[in-house]
Amino acid sequence: MKKLLKYIRPYLFWTLISPAFMLLEVFMDLLQPMLMSKIIDIGVATGNTPYIVRMCVLMCTVALLGVVGGVGNMIFSTKAGYGFAKDLRSDVYRKIQSFSFANIDQFKTGSLVTRTTNDITQIQNAFVTCIRMLIRAPFLFFGGVVMVCVISPRLSLVVLAAIPLLGMFIAVLLKKGAPLFMSMQQKMDRVNTVMQENLAGIRVIKAFARSAYEKQKFKAANDDLCNSSMRAMRMLSLSFPLISLIMNITMLLMYFFGGRLVFSGMLEPGQVMAFSNYVIQILSSLTMSSFMLMFLSRAGVSLKRVNEVLDTKSDISDGPNKDAKVTRGEVEFKDVSFRYPGASGDPVLKHISFSAKPGETVAILGATGSGKSTLVNLIPRLYDVSEGEIMVDDINVKDYELATLRGAIGVALQESVLFTGTIDENLHWGDNNASEESIKQAAAIAQADAFVSKFADGYETVLGQRGVNLSGGQKQRLCIARALVKHPRILILDDSTSAVDLSTEAKIQSGLRDAFGDMTVFIIAQRISSVMDADKILLIDNGEIIDSGKHEELKRRCSVYREIVVSQLGEEAAN
Ligand SMILES: Nc1ncnc2c1ncn2[C@@H]1O[C@H](COP(=O)(O)OP(=O)(O)OP(=O)(O)O)[C@@H](O)[C@H]1O
Ligand SMILES: [Mg+2]
Repeated sequence: MKKLLKYIRPYLFWTLISPAFMLLEVFMDLLQPMLMSKIIDIGVATGNTPYIVRMCVLMCTVALLGVVGGVGNMIFSTKAGYGFAKDLRSDVYRKIQSFSFANIDQFKTGSLVTRTTNDITQIQNAFVTCIRMLIRAPFLFFGGVVMVCVISPRLSLVVLAAIPLLGMFIAVLLKKGAPLFMSMQQKMDRVNTVMQENLAGIRVIKAFARSAYEKQKFKAANDDLCNSSMRAMRMLSLSFPLISLIMNITMLLMYFFGGRLVFSGMLEPGQVMAFSNYVIQILSSLTMSSFMLMFLSRAGVSLKRVNEVLDTKSDISDGPNKDAKVTRGEVEFKDVSFRYPGASGDPVLKHISFSAKPGETVAILGATGSGKSTLVNLIPRLYDVSEGEIMVDDINVKDYELATLRGAIGVALQESVLFTGTIDENLHWGDNNASEESIKQAAAIAQADAFVSKFADGYETVLGQRGVNLSGGQKQRLCIARALVKHPRILILDDSTSAVDLSTEAKIQSGLRDAFGDMTVFIIAQRISSVMDADKILLIDNGEIIDSGKHEELKRRCSVYREIVVSQLGEEAAN
């Protein structure tokens, strides 16, 4: 709640001025029945036409002022609500940007989408409704009660009996509503998660003819959301007729007793009419409150979910050493073990120790799932080690500021991800201020310049979402170029040439050596030919380094390595 106030503060003026306009509207609403009763009881009863006209003009003025109040309240409350929701949304978004991979794994992307969109909209709607109704409902209620008591204390007993009945009803409604709303938001998460996964993987789904299965999966999540919403709405829809039943019975009793009071001369007919109008106002203010509370309880659920995001501390944050800089690019793993957060069983990496000197190329070879990607992801702190430490230039990676550390490391991740925009924009991700020349140079080393130049628009070619209009190998080469643009001290290529033919791969590697001779390079590859020339090959199996050395050494002494060589290059190559 305190956090919410922080977001409301910049819009405090609108938040306060809006109810002031509402006050005007309520006041005018409360005046109307009184004026009407005067027209009937004085104007009509005595046939005083000028009085009726005067009163009519007054009523019109009052109505107009009411409209001004209503419109003003609407405009300002919307301004406050949408403004504060915008700020909240950008903070949640910014927070998510600061999340580590582990944080994102924990929330699931779909849920983060729901929280940033739907949940914040719920809070915004509740806020807007509140600054409208928070003044309107109580004033209309108490104003109405005072007015009925003034008109006829005896008749007002009828109304006062109905109020607790409605109040009890509303309390029950609220108690039942909260869990239903929570479940609704969770189902919404599920729909978003399924949808998001589905859209991201739509090509795979089609290739595997899994559309029917995916449709079924979406249908299940969607039906679930529908059922859950129906349950909540059923409760709400039941409440409408029940509230109006209570209201109608109250009106009936009021007319019955009111009529008798008119016959006995204790009340004027106009007064009964005004009375009935006030009763409607009182009861509708109660209905309004019930919906407002309902909105609030729903927004409370959403607020809790948004707060969970805001309160989550990114488990990877800047280290204390602000002056630490990566100058040489030396990397050392000291007895590093790693387990994915929340995972049980064996660690993914076990007691890994090795070092990579500046300018060295370290290749990592191993079966799929052996932990190669995990190992290199620890260097830019995409995850933090569970045990041991990783040093870059003799400083623990945890001591660097993240921007410094990551700024010095160029990564082409296993999955080539490009963004909507031109090729040029994508390559500038590496370095915003890179000159056209250095962009072209990086692309040339990554063997991307040739094919990009062939495109009609060259570097201005617009890429679709995730770079759909490129081949796998083209995407990989652009990702390498993007990593090179920032002239990193350490370069990590995680299976980045798997979709590139052998001769192109050889050209990329020799280009790297020529242009970035002092850069430390990590190459993960499945092909022996990709790693043969490396200064050091780490052979990984099941999260452990089983041997390391140069190609020739390993070929001689490591049977596993020999097997791989034989299987890929034939018997002769192993000798
Ligand atoms: N985000 C994650 N959460 C939990 N476990 C994970 C996660 N990512 C990978 N793993 C597990 O860690 C192990 C090592 O994965 P990793 O991606 O490092 O393998 P890899 O050697 O790069 O394989 P490949 O050659 O197929 O890319 C795998 O068993 C995998 O199941
Ligand atoms: Mg991998």
